[in-house]
Amino acid sequence: MDIRIFKNEAEIGEAVGKLYCDFINSKPDCVLGFATGATPVPTYNYIVEQYKAGKVSFKDVKTFNLDEYCDLPKTHKNSYYTFMLENLFSKVDVNLDNVGFLDGNAADPEAESARYAADIASKGGLDIQLLGIGRNGHIAFNEPSDEFSGESHKVKLTDSTIEANSIYFDDIPMPRYAMTMGIGSIMKARKIILIATGASKAQAVKDMIKGPVTPHCPASVLQEHKDAVIFLDEAAASLL
Ligand code: F6R
Repeated sequence: MDIRIFKNEAEIGEAVGKLYCDFINSKPDCVLGFATGATPVPTYNYIVEQYKAGKVSFKDVKTFNLDEYCDLPKTHKNSYYTFMLENLFSKVDVNLDNVGFLDGNAADPEAESARYAADIASKGGLDIQLLGIGRNGHIAFNEPSDEFSGESHKVKLTDSTIEANSIYFDDIPMPRYAMTMGIGSIMKARKIILIATGASKAQAVKDMIKGPVTPHCPASVLQEHKDAVIFLDEAAASLL
């Protein structure tokens, strides 16, 4: 693991955003895996600024997102698809036909998982997967459990995740299930970038980096990835 510590989330947004822009400029038809949540927003803001300044284009970029809630219309204001539209996709020149998403309303989650894996593979596989981390060490919606997951699958969200994310649901109760890329799918990415900011992530960061590789802290699997870069602010790094 390559661990980089910055003063605050703004500095991380610039560093990671720059890394993405440089990569897109070196491979304009690259395949990028994106994450939702509060953590990547400064990175998306930086990328949008660069796009507006004419310094990067998403014209031929292909994207895949980590996860999506189940039993929520794709266009609901809290869907992860809407999040990506609002924070990145509607603000750059990405072709929406090149935007891949898990269908949280698929009648057959196993078939949906196979479709997603085949779609990612047919585009050449993920060049870079962006990740945040949950306070319990989850990545995507792979919650602590007794074994590492493989490809995409449907999950029941834990109380900790429901508590953390329900602040965003002010009209309907937060969904209890999601479709997520599995640990196996994430580990296939050629490069992984994980960002963690804030003191609430410090314990999970310590477990991820210093603890044993165990599905009880799903992010610890990144110790086994050959190109995982971890961007931390000082608060998230405070227990290292
Ligand atoms: C989002 C995702 C989640 C978040 C994690 C951290 O697509 O897969 O694993 O990365 O829950 O969320 P924030 O960034 O809101 O603290």
